[in-house]
Amino acid sequence: MIPVIRPPRGVCYRRFMPIALGRLSRRASSSEPAELLLECHDRIRQHMRGAIALSTASADDPAVPATAEAVHRYFSVALPLHSEDEDASVGPRLRATPLTGEAASAVAAMTAQHADIDLALLRLLPMWARLASEPASLSGLRETLVRDTMHFDALWAVHLDLEERIVFPLVTGRLDEATRAEIVREMRARRGTATA
Ligand SMILES: [Fe+2]
Ligand SMILES: [Fe+2]
Repeated sequence: MIPVIRPPRGVCYRRFMPIALGRLSRRASSSEPAELLLECHDRIRQHMRGAIALSTASADDPAVPATAEAVHRYFSVALPLHSEDEDASVGPRLRATPLTGEAASAVAAMTAQHADIDLALLRLLPMWARLASEPASLSGLRETLVRDTMHFDALWAVHLDLEERIVFPLVTGRLDEATRAEIVREMRARRGTATA
């Protein structure tokens, strides 16, 4: 399973240490909200790969605790900010524009799917927390962890496709420059950083 979360090319990290979650990519310094949201999706996919690797790892794999901690931290700390970006900053502004049937449905489905993702996390977060401090528990958790991880992954496949195919193009295509800049300011304020 090693490394479950790969460091960027050319950067070396301590053995068994997942990448730093705060690492910036070119997208993270963009002034376009859709690019910043896509950067979050890169991180979701990255940590989802870690979650899947955890579910199939050997209990004695030395990467289990650090990976479980990184996956837990991402989905409990960073993901809620991303969902809030979409529910509080993007959704209301898109709903204020005239949307076609498919676009209107997609914006509504985006928020509804966040609730399903949060429900799945209620089951997964305690397992990742336990693996971070007690990796030997992996064998006993395996069956439930595999089932819940596969369900979580299936939710993401539908959700990321919906947002990337329909919702994010609306952000760029339907919202004016001042509104998009306002969304970026809100995203940055949520994180207390100069970049979202
Ligand atoms: Fe998203
Ligand atoms: Fe979302």
